[in-house]
Amino acid sequence: MPNGLRVAVMGATGAVGAEILALLDQRAFPLKDLTLLASPRSAGTTLTFKGEQIPVQAIGPDSFNNIDLVLASAGGSVSLKWLPKAVAAGAVCIDNSSAYRMEPTVPLVVPEVNPEAAQHHQGIIANPNCTTILMALALWPLHQVQPIQRLVVATYQSASGAGARAMEEVKQQARAILAGEDPVAELFPYPLAFNLFPHNSPLNEQGYCQEEMKMVNETRKIFAAPDLKVSATCVRVPVLRAHSEAVNIEFATPFSPSVAKALLARAPGVKLVEDWGRNYFPMPLEASGQDDVLVGRIRQDISHPNGLELWLSGDQIRKGAALNAVQIAELLLVPQAVGVGL
Ligand code: A2P
Repeated sequence: MPNGLRVAVMGATGAVGAEILALLDQRAFPLKDLTLLASPRSAGTTLTFKGEQIPVQAIGPDSFNNIDLVLASAGGSVSLKWLPKAVAAGAVCIDNSSAYRMEPTVPLVVPEVNPEAAQHHQGIIANPNCTTILMALALWPLHQVQPIQRLVVATYQSASGAGARAMEEVKQQARAILAGEDPVAELFPYPLAFNLFPHNSPLNEQGYCQEEMKMVNETRKIFAAPDLKVSATCVRVPVLRAHSEAVNIEFATPFSPSVAKALLARAPGVKLVEDWGRNYFPMPLEASGQDDVLVGRIRQDISHPNGLELWLSGDQIRKGAALNAVQIAELLLVPQAVGVGL
């Protein structure tokens, strides 16, 4: 790909869009041309890329002419509206939204786990849900050695999962509370600063919210393990940009914690972080800005002979969204690696 690709970033002005731009620069992604797309609100503004001011355009019917690759992060309804048009115009799309993830014809890819799935794309490749990506990275090396039977996970999800404006809302709420004023909740249903609440996505008849069912269904699809039992409780916490998760893993037979640690210490995309003497384990503040998912506190489940417990923190905007999407694009640049190209 000597001349590079003509890339459009959809949702370029958002939290994930900003990180995609930073990663395209940092990872020297081969670009021939860069188009920045957002809502009409942002049309006419500019963003800096490699020291150059690039205009932001509102998405329109002509946005995808002469585009090879779309990196989309503008929400599900925007993807549903525009990605079919981008594919029809000849682009390959990597979509951060949940709109296409469970479509049988759309690969759902974590490059460290199932890169080969990318080869079956028909124009759209989906980037999984952020909490699912982080958990998949930590569990895949264990699942390879002994298939996981059942997972019970509780998440501690940062404001960034709801976008750049949500991060600002939490800061404003904190300032208000410290000034003795009432916090204002606009994007979130309740104040998040100095508080937490179960994830506010719609609930199903079994009482699970959409975010929780994403962890169930997407983990099964990524691992190609349709019978994997998963139960999740997703909670929003007043952290700015990295998610944490407590995961209980059940195997068919005992799994030694020391073997699990050795596997995770050399797993791609994972950093083993634990110092039991200092009670030092993964923290969202330290995970923020890091590519690797921090995993630690790996221990035997005292309530089950075949159970393991672990704790992880990972940058939701980076590996949970932008980095995973850019890594998928990089897979497509080396078609021989996965038998597919753009
Ligand atoms: P804009 O900044 O113009 O609103 P975040 O997840 O951080 O909230 O970012 C969402 C991204 O999606 C932003 O770039 C936002 O653009 C873009 N976006 C939101 N709604 C639309 C829309 N209807 N059409 C195009 N882009 C949109």
